Amino acid sequence: MGDQPRRKTAEQLRSHRWFGVDDIRAFGHRSRLLQTGLSEQDFRGKPVIGIINTWSDLSVCHAHFRTRADEVKRGVWQAGGFPVELPAHPVTEQYQKPSSMLYRNLLAMETEELARSHPCDGLVLLGGCDKTPPALVMGALSAGLPCIFVPAGPMLSGNWHGKKLGSGSDVWKYHAELRAGNISQAQWKDMETGIARSFGTCMTAGTAATMMLAVEAMGLCLPGASSIPAADSAHPRMATSCGRRIVDMVWEDETPARLLTQASIDNAVTATMAFGGSTNAIPHLIAMARRGGFQLDLERFDAISRRVPLIANLRPNGDTFLMEDFFYAGGARAFLARLAPYLDLNARTVTGATLGENLEGAEIYNEEIIRPLDRPLQAEGGVAILRGTLAPRGAVIKTSAADPKLLAHTGPAVVFEDYNDMNARLDDPALEVTADSVLVLRQAGPQGGPGMPEWGMMPIPKKLLKQGVRDMVRLSDARMSGTSYGTCVLHVAPESHVGGPLALVRNGDLIRLDVPNRSLDLLIDPAEMEARRAAWVAPPVRYARGWTALHLQHVRQADEGCDFDFLEAGSATPEPEIH
Ligand code: FES
Ligand code: MG
Repeated sequence: MGDQPRRKTAEQLRSHRWFGVDDIRAFGHRSRLLQTGLSEQDFRGKPVIGIINTWSDLSVCHAHFRTRADEVKRGVWQAGGFPVELPAHPVTEQYQKPSSMLYRNLLAMETEELARSHPCDGLVLLGGCDKTPPALVMGALSAGLPCIFVPAGPMLSGNWHGKKLGSGSDVWKYHAELRAGNISQAQWKDMETGIARSFGTCMTAGTAATMMLAVEAMGLCLPGASSIPAADSAHPRMATSCGRRIVDMVWEDETPARLLTQASIDNAVTATMAFGGSTNAIPHLIAMARRGGFQLDLERFDAISRRVPLIANLRPNGDTFLMEDFFYAGGARAFLARLAPYLDLNARTVTGATLGENLEGAEIYNEEIIRPLDRPLQAEGGVAILRGTLAPRGAVIKTSAADPKLLAHTGPAVVFEDYNDMNARLDDPALEVTADSVLVLRQAGPQGGPGMPEWGMMPIPKKLLKQGVRDMVRLSDARMSGTSYGTCVLHVAPESHVGGPLALVRNGDLIRLDVPNRSLDLLIDPAEMEARRAAWVAPPVRYARGWTALHLQHVRQADEGCDFDFLEAGSATPEPEIH
């Protein structure tokens, strides 16, 4: 166990300044709560628990949060707290364009400011869809209040005519079959009814599943919470337990600063690698770590990935199982227990106990899904970090989802200036491309996208699909969905929009990808490279106002987590004056 819990008094609660004192402001604060039908017994001297809710009608992964918030409240009331629900920007992966990533930092800012400006003593964070776990945690770490994360949980497995369908992965797979002429338009359309069967997040081992697991491994969830299917009755019970626990966390003053250490961050990275998690986790975890004042760079991911076996046999790395199967196999607790030799079990968690204590007694019920350490799906974790003349500040490849034959490959570049250019020309029969070509996409990074959209799994050109080609080397400053697969080099930094070497590639240039040696190079003469750099002209500014302009001015490159420079750890923001 860590330090002994210290107990706060009611007068030491942050909310005491709003509700507990006798001045004209507190008169207003109390009387306006009475306006809602509450009595003073409902709130006076109690921890105020802000429930940050990312529900909306379009936040389909979070459809159950409307009632989950009530289930959290039930727990808060039971434990003697005062719950207040605070709606926050519901970042939706499916609907927000050009990329939900453009809004991750907005939700992070909003979480922090909701917490600080209101009389909150502790936070319950309701999130799960890709950008929401990192955003909520980033904001909560900056706010510095005790917090607990309620993961939305995966939706039920897809089912179409008795066939198991996985979110994202099967969309890509069957769309390629449609384009190759192997399934009919009617069959494709019919799949829409079977691929998303309940509320909850994507149920492949994509970004949502990865980030929920990472937050649990970091110590910010109740044990096992991250793998409970959204539609299982265990899910509302977990939400209620979170409501009870956060009240005690406030009294115990279990702030993130007391709870988290560098080991918590390494545990999250380790779990991500052994899970074969989404490449999106890399910028998210870097941004989260930096908000907590911890070190995390790309090389740490590579080092941990080399050390840790990939033991979760889930799509898109494996070819059968989904998150519902993972839960029945023992879920996140069983997975982390198996990974124990690679984790720091002394890291503390929101339960008040250590990670090791939380994992005691966990059992694995299906060794095909949660593999033994000596029979992994892949001997190393799923990710490699590349550097070289094409990516001086790094690039990422998900080796577990790539064709092993392509991991050391040299081929001529086929360059697309941006996403529209790619869509316009990719299927053109006249496009000069072979299976050995390297597809290059520009203008898809943090600024160029903007928001680093998930365009990195460029489609295979139709004429190659018809020849049976299903994978080729692709290269961009974009991200890709955690449910995507293929030999896609992503997150190239610096991005093309700011003049990174990706901006200088020309059609026919040879590009060498060498994953065993962790390198990515443009095979042209250095003098030629310099000449092209000198002649490079920055693209015109497309966004002169509003959120996107703020984003362009302040977003960091992918290797630094894409946070805003002014939001990263710095001197603490003072508590608000209450006048
Ligand atoms: Fe929300 Fe995939 S769309 S998790
Ligand atoms: Mg996704």
